[in-house]
Amino acid sequence: MAYMRAIDGRQLARLLGRTQEADPIGGTGTVYRHLASAIQMLILDGRLAIQTRLPSERELATALATSRTTVTAAYDALRTAGYAASRRGAGTWTTLPDDRPADPVAAFAPSTTSTHIDLAPAAPEAPGPELRAAYEHALTQLPHYMSGHGYHILGLPSLRDAIAARFNARGLPTTPEQIIVTSGAQHAFTLVLAALGRAGDRVIIDHPTYPNALDAIRRIHAEPVPVTLAEDGWDLEALAAAVRQSGPRLAYLLPDFQNPTGLLASDVERRHLAETLARARVVTVVDESNVEVGFVTPPPPLATYAPGVITLGSAGKSFWGGLRIGWIRAEQTMIRRLATTRANLDLASPPVEQEATAHLLRQADEILPHRRADLRERRDAMIALLAEYLPGWRVRPPDGGLALWCDMGMHVSSRLTTAAGQHGLRLAAGPRFGVDGAFERRIRLPLTLPRDVMQPTVQRLAHAFESVAAGGDPVATTNLRELFA
Ligand SMILES: Cc1ncc(COP(=O)(O)O)c(C=O)c1O
Repeated sequence: MAYMRAIDGRQLARLLGRTQEADPIGGTGTVYRHLASAIQMLILDGRLAIQTRLPSERELATALATSRTTVTAAYDALRTAGYAASRRGAGTWTTLPDDRPADPVAAFAPSTTSTHIDLAPAAPEAPGPELRAAYEHALTQLPHYMSGHGYHILGLPSLRDAIAARFNARGLPTTPEQIIVTSGAQHAFTLVLAALGRAGDRVIIDHPTYPNALDAIRRIHAEPVPVTLAEDGWDLEALAAAVRQSGPRLAYLLPDFQNPTGLLASDVERRHLAETLARARVVTVVDESNVEVGFVTPPPPLATYAPGVITLGSAGKSFWGGLRIGWIRAEQTMIRRLATTRANLDLASPPVEQEATAHLLRQADEILPHRRADLRERRDAMIALLAEYLPGWRVRPPDGGLALWCDMGMHVSSRLTTAAGQHGLRLAAGPRFGVDGAFERRIRLPLTLPRDVMQPTVQRLAHAFESVAAGGDPVATTNLRELFA
């Protein structure tokens, strides 16, 4: 049976407080309407998850220092609009109206047409000469492997050595026996879910998060439990509440240049996240796919603070997605368990790509500084173009990663994604990165566009946005500070 989250009056008042900072728009009309629309906005933004039990009217009235009649009327308005439901004895909880727009980007896979500029994936092109040299080196090693059967279920020793060396260099002691090579980080996560996940399990996720991971969780019929990220980092209080209320079995976190926000967890946040989850015996999976594409040096890996943490990595962002090489670092007993599961899934990854990746990893300190400098320039160029063509949008410059998580100031992401097609663009709507229709105000843009394509792309995006913004924001905003001061 689905569990019901709950939010108390103090927590909701805190979220409503953040709403006023994010949306300093004065409103007119009655107090209860403003309260109702502010709660509605929290729901649509994903800051207040669907199926969350709201505080009692009396409790929220006390927390907001307003009258109970105001809260009663606001809850009534939410029910009428389809954003809340109540049952005697069960209280009031958040819902979505039945007629909400469907997410227009059903698939997140790379585009198969060439006529559109594809802004849905955020993946870099290969580093030309280095990749070629890596494959040439790999081919010289091939005869050695051709004398055997070629199945290395844990990965080639040379690559496991190179991956372990990278962890050691980052301050996390790691032996090659703690590594299993996979066919990318997405494969690594599905392997972990296949080995450890069960239907009905609750899985804590950053909210927003990487869409293909969300789909993988849903595919095994587990239930994502969203813990909404704050503007500048991880909400540790909300995590503790989610752990208490949902009894999760797994957590999937992205502390290193989070996708899509670009956030980087501090040392303190890492320690806190690791300890909270370890205390509750939650199997914590950290996806470090973006760790090597940051503009600042990340703190030591989250696994430093809890030995049971399972860490996923990828060559896709550092070097090239087409290598299809990733890995898992875990305790040796866990690696053996994962290998047993792998035996009936895909058996092993191809030797040439593994040798090429080992070669690239051994040269990472020469290759990656160029990649980071290039991405930083692209980030600054994209932010400057957005400021010029879409001055109403708010973009927090990311600490790293391959994308910008833009706040459009209006709840039009799905509509924009649909309209973008007519302007020759393909977008992934904000709700693709969350659960229950959240993030309608957001859109993710890649930093990986060729430079000469950036300006015309942003120009087209601005035209598409104008066409949907003309219809106005379907969700009213409010300034609660004025109302409850
Ligand atoms: C957070 C995250 N995990 C996993 C992946 C997939 O990585 P791979 O290409 O190694 O499967 C991506 C790619 O976008 C990602 O951003």
